[in-house]
Amino acid sequence: MSTLAARLPGRIAGRSLDDGLAEQLAALLADVRARTELLIAPLSDDDLHVQHDPLMSPIVWDLGHIAGFEELWLLRHLERPFTGLAALGEMPGLFNPFEHPRRERGKLVLPSAAECRAVMAEVRERVLERLALVDFASPSPLTRGGYVYRMVAQHEAQHGETILQTVQLKRGAPYHSPDRVATPRLTTPHRAGAMVRFPGGTVQIGTDDRAAAYDNERPRHAVRLAAFDIDETPVTNAAYLGFIEAGGYRNPAWWSEAGRAWLAESAAHAPKYWHREKGEWWTRTMDVDAVPDPLHPVVHVCYYEAEAFARWAGKRLPTEAEWEAAATWDPATGASRLFPWGDTPPAPALANIDQLTFGTAAAGAYPLNRSPIGCMGMIGDVWEWTASDFSPYPGYESFPYREYSEVFFGPDYKLLRGGSWATRSIATRSTFRNWDLPIRRQIFSGFRCVRDA
Ligand code: AVJ
Ligand code: FE
Repeated sequence: MSTLAARLPGRIAGRSLDDGLAEQLAALLADVRARTELLIAPLSDDDLHVQHDPLMSPIVWDLGHIAGFEELWLLRHLERPFTGLAALGEMPGLFNPFEHPRRERGKLVLPSAAECRAVMAEVRERVLERLALVDFASPSPLTRGGYVYRMVAQHEAQHGETILQTVQLKRGAPYHSPDRVATPRLTTPHRAGAMVRFPGGTVQIGTDDRAAAYDNERPRHAVRLAAFDIDETPVTNAAYLGFIEAGGYRNPAWWSEAGRAWLAESAAHAPKYWHREKGEWWTRTMDVDAVPDPLHPVVHVCYYEAEAFARWAGKRLPTEAEWEAAATWDPATGASRLFPWGDTPPAPALANIDQLTFGTAAAGAYPLNRSPIGCMGMIGDVWEWTASDFSPYPGYESFPYREYSEVFFGPDYKLLRGGSWATRSIATRSTFRNWDLPIRRQIFSGFRCVRDA
């Protein structure tokens, strides 16, 4: 038995709830930290320090923020009794996201990358010491079953995806990772334009999980849905090119009023990172410049582009409840799966997730990534825009702090589902709700469409 386990109070009391849990959580934190280091390894000090784009923080800001958030939640909040909702959700100072909006973070006097790394390591050392003393069976919902440790691991993993958005945007030499792995070759050709049917009915949406889920995913609740057809895969580059070539960006009929305003202001005529050369479209993914693969999902489109494509195609975007039902509900059993493929956690053979492919795979390239009704690739590859705003579920309660979800509820943000290739598997689920402004496209966002049956 390791010394860490020997020091666990739960072990001494003979409880089973925390058997090996401290080691598991320490391993999870170490895994996430190793990934942060892998992602930033190819970057120079200058790359880490400059603000590459007003949309993104200097990467050292993310690093300092990761350490500050970990110190707040795994040290400071564990020193006092937790009453259900923390007064302080984000640490005050340089690394508080509300005190310093992203576009201004380039002007901050930030510590060097070496200093940030030293603080991250020093905080982690104290966190591991403290972890050995936690009673996971105590009633505090913060530590019960190890929740707050998973929250902090998810937070760092989410900033890993943020860092990948930044390096895709980066100035200077394109980002190259020596750790990139290939995506699988497509074995079953994608049926272009195929849709599958959800028969309608009452489904359960969300979760009551308190081990890993965020507050905004709770509580699980019933939603009644009419029958609909939904795209078997996310919209591909080939299909999206059809929209571009049909003059989609020039015909206001396909665009909502807000979409037209975005179109005028952005002067966009293709997804972000697409450029035209000698009559052909090209797209850059990190350091790979290529013709957009017709079989891959389109990525780096904003909500308004997704909405316009759907209207052009005679379809619409799914609501988030429709998306979740299509991803996990089995009409044959009247129950949902945890993941589209079943109840086993994501793994490299199941979905294009966990970052190391550094790009999308062909739609349908993961035959096991199939939901009960036959939707492919709902987890991984691209976040999928939905028609829904970010709003609380009935009975929602903020936990453990308001600034994760509550302050963002309202009509300003649109909901995305499923996770992308750049998402760590601990930071998405079938019930996971992501949100962003409808104009954003530096995120790894695509979409699929539905039609009333
Ligand atoms: C859930 C991706 C919208 O990046 O703003 C990171 C995640 N929250 N730190 C964001 C998050 C606090 C959040 N999103
Ligand atoms: Fe954060």
